[in-house]
Amino acid sequence: MEQKHTWWKEAVVYQIYPRSFADSNGDGVGDLNGITAKLDYLAGLGVTVLWLCPVYASPNDDNGYDISDYRAIQPEFGTMADFDRLLAQAHKRGLRVLMDLVVNHTSDEHRWFQASRSSRDNPYRDYYIWKDGKEGGTQPPNNWGSCFSGSAWEKDEATGQYYLHLFSKKQPDLNWENPKVREEIYDMMNWWCQKGIDGFRIDVAAFYAKSNFDDGRVAPGALYGDFSASCINQPRIHDYFREMNARVLSHYDVMTVGETGGVTPAQAVKYAGLDGGELSMVFQFEHVDAGERIVGKWTDRRPQMPELRRILNRWQLGLADKAWNSLYWNNHDQPRVVSRFGSDAPLWRTLSAKMLATCLYGMQGTPYLYQGEELGMTNVYFEHIEDYRDIEVLRAWEELRAAHKATDEQLLRYFAAIGRDNARTPMQWDTTANAGFSAGTPWIAVNKNYLSINAADEEKDPDSVLNYYKKLIALRRENPIFVYGGFVPLLEGDASVYAWQRRYEDRTLTVACNFTPDTVPCTLFDGAAGETLISNYHSRAAGVLQPYEARITLM
Ligand code: NOJ
Repeated sequence: MEQKHTWWKEAVVYQIYPRSFADSNGDGVGDLNGITAKLDYLAGLGVTVLWLCPVYASPNDDNGYDISDYRAIQPEFGTMADFDRLLAQAHKRGLRVLMDLVVNHTSDEHRWFQASRSSRDNPYRDYYIWKDGKEGGTQPPNNWGSCFSGSAWEKDEATGQYYLHLFSKKQPDLNWENPKVREEIYDMMNWWCQKGIDGFRIDVAAFYAKSNFDDGRVAPGALYGDFSASCINQPRIHDYFREMNARVLSHYDVMTVGETGGVTPAQAVKYAGLDGGELSMVFQFEHVDAGERIVGKWTDRRPQMPELRRILNRWQLGLADKAWNSLYWNNHDQPRVVSRFGSDAPLWRTLSAKMLATCLYGMQGTPYLYQGEELGMTNVYFEHIEDYRDIEVLRAWEELRAAHKATDEQLLRYFAAIGRDNARTPMQWDTTANAGFSAGTPWIAVNKNYLSINAADEEKDPDSVLNYYKKLIALRRENPIFVYGGFVPLLEGDASVYAWQRRYEDRTLTVACNFTPDTVPCTLFDGAAGETLISNYHSRAAGVLQPYEARITLM
């Protein structure tokens, strides 16, 4: 099937983590009015869609991914009137807005769960997944571990049964088998769509369907069983998304992106096929999961470019003319890309951040830009466990220390390399106190490098990462080949250079990125190589790519 032209394929999505973006009232927590105040900055960047991480009422066990009321705004973030103003002001500037749809689980403080846990015969009992424990109810129903350490089951003394929580025990999993649950969710989605939002980013979209409750495989050295074979990409999931599409999505001009850790390209084609029967696109995880892991997900090893290339080429080719790719390096769950796949050493930070941007925007798919990525923001390298706020890190610290799986020093190294708080330090706006994020004490420390990495300085510097992103985004807007051109891999055996072509009508783009700090041989641009559209170097050297050089030419 040919790629039909749609606004969401042409979009560039900017992801906002509201707690850390801009604080308008000095309480140390970012808020909706803070976002509204920055809309001109966002429009100036050229992005066309904003994705807001959850802004709903939440006890904040997992920073808003534990929702207690889907139709209310988290008071720390403002009011529904503030939300309506943000939406109207965004629309006025041509920016669409995606909400985060978190419906694999609710908060345990949601009224459905409060009712559900109150007795075994409460009408809301089946909204969640309750099971009897083993060994006379003293042991969980199976060996699954939760994503945030510990068992995935919590015993509720009031009724003597266990409920399932694939994330924290304050995030009980909804029972998607129950049609009433699905109706409630579709109603709520319709309510938001009627408000005028432009789509949803769908949290852990591949986890809703649970096919069986058998023990999971226990990986060598692991403390719990893996639930993947029972809970990820199970066949019923496609019934749910087809139903959601029929009941909600197909009635509006909205885009959707499913967060689908664990999907392969063949599975992605089912979720995001061009027939439009389920979702617009999905987030795959293979490239951000690349590289060797040491204990569970934790590691401080860096993946190598050839592995990234194998993965990304497989996605580019695997979805071609069948589905649509999303493109991302960063989000609120990932370390900063320049620290992970480039170099945040002062000598290389700007060059390598631009190289990584070129690489991403040179592929086919809808690019997602996470706040601060456009500045080349880096990992924060916290040295003390007390600096961390993320439940995932704090629980892993407790569990892995107690089980003697790693030394404190090793754990701190792993968290510094890939912990989620690297993405959650405040946005670096300028050189004033707290990087201009807040007049109060920020809920999490600001990265100390804000004096040299911040939006105000980068706006003024023509060679900044920020101005490079603006240029890339404008090129994408002006040249349909960036969006619709087919993908042809080049130099697949090269150890340093990642290169490919894009072809559309009678034109060819050539993209090449040197992932190393060395000058490396490359003759792709020698001879009649076409016009350079963008590069992170002002001049080219024949026969080579310079350290972290990236270049796109058009013929
Ligand atoms: C994925 C979200 O991106 C992450 O931040 C969250 O912790 C889990 N889903 C649970 O909702």
